[in-house]
Amino acid sequence: MVQQPELQETSSIQSTQRVLKSLSTYRWTSLGALASLLLLTIANALTPQLFRWGIDEGITQKNLQVVLYSAAWMVVAAIARGVFNFGQSYLAEAASQGVAYDLRNKIFSKIQNLSFSFHDQAQTSQLLTRVTSDIEQIRTFVGTSLIQVIGGVVTLVCVSVILLVMNWKLALITLTAVPLNAWLMAQFITRNNKHFRQVQEQLSGLNAVLQENLLGIRVVKAFVRESTERSRYTTMNDGLIKANMKTISAIRNTFPLIFLLSNLVTLAVFAYGGAQVIGHRFSIGELVAFNSYLALILQPILLIGFAAPAIAQSAASAERVYEVVDAEVEIRDRPGAVPFETCGGRITFENVSFRYPGATSETLKEVSFETKPNELIAVLGMTGSGKSTIMNLIPRFYDVTGGEVRIDGRDVRSFTLKSLRSHIGIVFQETTLFSGTIRENIAYAKPNATLKQVIEVAKTAQMHDFISSLPDGYETIVGERGVGLSGGQKQRIAIARTLLTDYSILILDDSTSAVDAKTAAQIQAELDDLMRQKACTTFVVAQRISTVKNADRIFLMDKGRLVAQGTHEELMQTSPLYGVILESQVKPKQKNDSKLA
Ligand SMILES: Nc1ncnc2c1ncn2[C@@H]1O[C@H](COP(=O)(O)OP(=O)(O)OP(=O)(O)O)[C@@H](O)[C@H]1O
Ligand SMILES: [Mg+2]
Repeated sequence: MVQQPELQETSSIQSTQRVLKSLSTYRWTSLGALASLLLLTIANALTPQLFRWGIDEGITQKNLQVVLYSAAWMVVAAIARGVFNFGQSYLAEAASQGVAYDLRNKIFSKIQNLSFSFHDQAQTSQLLTRVTSDIEQIRTFVGTSLIQVIGGVVTLVCVSVILLVMNWKLALITLTAVPLNAWLMAQFITRNNKHFRQVQEQLSGLNAVLQENLLGIRVVKAFVRESTERSRYTTMNDGLIKANMKTISAIRNTFPLIFLLSNLVTLAVFAYGGAQVIGHRFSIGELVAFNSYLALILQPILLIGFAAPAIAQSAASAERVYEVVDAEVEIRDRPGAVPFETCGGRITFENVSFRYPGATSETLKEVSFETKPNELIAVLGMTGSGKSTIMNLIPRFYDVTGGEVRIDGRDVRSFTLKSLRSHIGIVFQETTLFSGTIRENIAYAKPNATLKQVIEVAKTAQMHDFISSLPDGYETIVGERGVGLSGGQKQRIAIARTLLTDYSILILDDSTSAVDAKTAAQIQAELDDLMRQKACTTFVVAQRISTVKNADRIFLMDKGRLVAQGTHEELMQTSPLYGVILESQVKPKQKNDSKLA
């Protein structure tokens, strides 16, 4: 991830501009915050004038009434400051919450839309950091830093004008500090932008280790790798501290200089202003007021200074968030895509080649076949031969890199994705369940399915007896990713979940691999009827020849090629590879009959 520093800067500026533009959704809240800010600045700027009036017209003239009046007005100004201060920060925070809310939703739905190939390459934890911590940085920027900067600039301009009107010579002395401080700040931001990005990247890395460990905690313990994982985490944690300390030391280096400059200005005002008071060219009240304005003018510079790191951080974060928001969705509806309505059962692969993004060689090479209506196709082959890859191409989880996949003569790319996928029932090789009840998991794609329907599919998947034996039955809660169920039970719930959908093409990718041979055969027998009734075509990827013997046709895959096809009997005659696989599975059966049914 080596990026040109200049490139990165322009794009972080552009990203910040986009964040600002997104405020337009909350324009009234933002305008309210701005109005409060202006009123606050006016109340702030008036207070020293009240002092001047109280001193020059009241204390010096010994007029108690003016002193009391000015004091009363100061109370009013203080209350006004309190109210407007609350108003500006409340409204700014409200707008910032809105911006963060929109961004979170936007990035989430983008993540949902991104293709498999994006998720193959993106790290989950990276995405998590972007959705949480990066968006929080942006929110802080909009809610706090932005208003600080605008307030700072407005105050600077107002107070400068007042000072120039009051005493332009003294004002010029004071104002020299402003460009100097501004320059220091600018230096600070440009120098440290990369550190802020580093902090976020380290945080992502840390999250990656954490997440991997949470998911893989059982493996970590089984292999007694706790201490290694701990030190891996500690190393990342050290990296985060280092990156954080770099930014902190940069902040700490810049601020003493700014404070020093401010103190020098106060000294100059005291000395030069004092001389003018003695020479009767300036009143004491004016000097006191002037001195109060000094605090007002230096405060914004400090505020802007404090806001600067947050702005730099938010710019880096905005860039990372928009990277995901702008990521190209490779697989999407083509213009003029039509809905997939009825399935005739003719699925054609014509010279299909496929290479995974970033892979060096082709995973599928010139695969061609055509299914007949209501056919049950079994796909067999060594591990890594490309069986799952073929299945991924039918619902367009990936698009072919050569050739064509057609359903009833139409390229799958000419259908709308939603209609295509909702007609394809797929049981993935890797089972993923969600936390919730068993019933919710089975009814995942059809939340308002009746219990009767749920039970029906559970029966087909040979899961009903087990579920009914549980104290809570279908309402039994399963943990994250199905914790609490065995591998085979999870697989059978996944089968039931798919059976409940309105599929017309059914794909079972090695979905009984964790189920014992006897139950697998039972599922297969139940499915056989169902599949032939409901599905126009069924693909069953399997390892065991015993489970696919009654398929209409068996496709044999080898190293990305479809090397043989035919019925069990035909393949036994014609395919040496089929013979080898069969032999490897039959032999142990003879040795130990109880192992394989
Ligand atoms: N997302 C991916 N990105 C890059 N390469 C991949 C990806 N998924 C699979 N591959 C590669 O493609 C090849 C075929 O994988 P595939 O999953 O289709 O095999 P399979 O026949 O289903 O194997 P198994 O029986 O073990 O499930 C493998 O060599 C694998 O390394
Ligand atoms: Mg597979």
